[in-house]
Amino acid sequence: MNKFTHLIDLDDFPIEYIKKIVKSGADIALNTDEYSECCKGKVLATLFYEPSTRTQMSFQTAMLRLGGTLIGFDNPETSSVAKGENLKDTTKVVSSYADIMVMRNPVEGSAKAAALSSDCPIINAGDGGHLHPTQTLTDLLTIKLAHGQLENLTIGVCGDLKYGRTTHSLCKTLSKFSGNKFIFISAPELSMPDYIKDIVKANGCEFEEIYSLEDALPKLDMLYMTRIQRERFAGKSDAAIDKYILTKDMLRLMRPDAIILHPLPRVDEIEIAVDDDPRAKYFLQAKYGVYVRMALIIEVLKNENPVKLFHEEHSDIICKNEKCVTRKEKYLPHSFRRKGDMLFCDYCEAAQP
Ligand code: NCD
Repeated sequence: MNKFTHLIDLDDFPIEYIKKIVKSGADIALNTDEYSECCKGKVLATLFYEPSTRTQMSFQTAMLRLGGTLIGFDNPETSSVAKGENLKDTTKVVSSYADIMVMRNPVEGSAKAAALSSDCPIINAGDGGHLHPTQTLTDLLTIKLAHGQLENLTIGVCGDLKYGRTTHSLCKTLSKFSGNKFIFISAPELSMPDYIKDIVKANGCEFEEIYSLEDALPKLDMLYMTRIQRERFAGKSDAAIDKYILTKDMLRLMRPDAIILHPLPRVDEIEIAVDDDPRAKYFLQAKYGVYVRMALIIEVLKNENPVKLFHEEHSDIICKNEKCVTRKEKYLPHSFRRKGDMLFCDYCEAAQP
């Protein structure tokens, strides 16, 4: 067991913990000023190895509104990372300056790897195409405030489901709430990874995979649109892949009480004309990110829920996922979780066939 309440994956926590953060985010949204001294004297570090607008700034705003202060970088080229410093050393040092650290990194499993050497709690702000748990908290707060519930919803997830880390975290978490159904809408090349579908199924939720957005729209309580993650195509082109665009005209197919979410940035998946429709909640969703991250920082700093992050060490097994952090940071112990007769990498969740 590690010493800190690291938030690497919401799956590491009981559903009550997730509900508590969402509930507290809703209270903070109404009474923000009452929380203005909660983190007085505390320092939050933001280590962003990848571009970000909302996640980084909403964490920074959250800490400032809690009365805390900030350190960090948003371009590794201006830190010692550019000189070849490994993740372990950067983490070790920054965690001796800060009380809590938020990390975004293009390498899958990097936040968990950082947790191994950190002397403060780590929050995963996106690890490559793997997970983005704090976006999920933002999404949950938006859904809760719009629908009043997180259960018994039909959820359409559309776009790049293969590399879209927000969709992975969201579906893992929403499948823990009873009665939710999923419709995965994507081009075949960008379909939801098997390990996420397996988790959704194991949590007892139904899902279907379809190609047509129009066919899905009338059934949905929520549509979650995402952009194509071009930067994760590793030299390949996305030119031949069909793109989805939600147009104003298509809104007539949606229920009046349905909501439209998007983690942003939008490229062209949602026509600008959709923004004025009351069902479009994506700008509100970005705003709620501050409140739910305030709730998360308060909770994590209490350090009441250290979770087990690592399971069985197998030094002889090399993770099959070429994008896994263990392929880059060679000093890391090779650690796996056993489910049935299969092993899954503890860092990136890749199955080891
Ligand atoms: C998302 C991300 O970085 O994964 N953005 C965000 O944090 N709100 C979505 C994306 O980049 O497409």
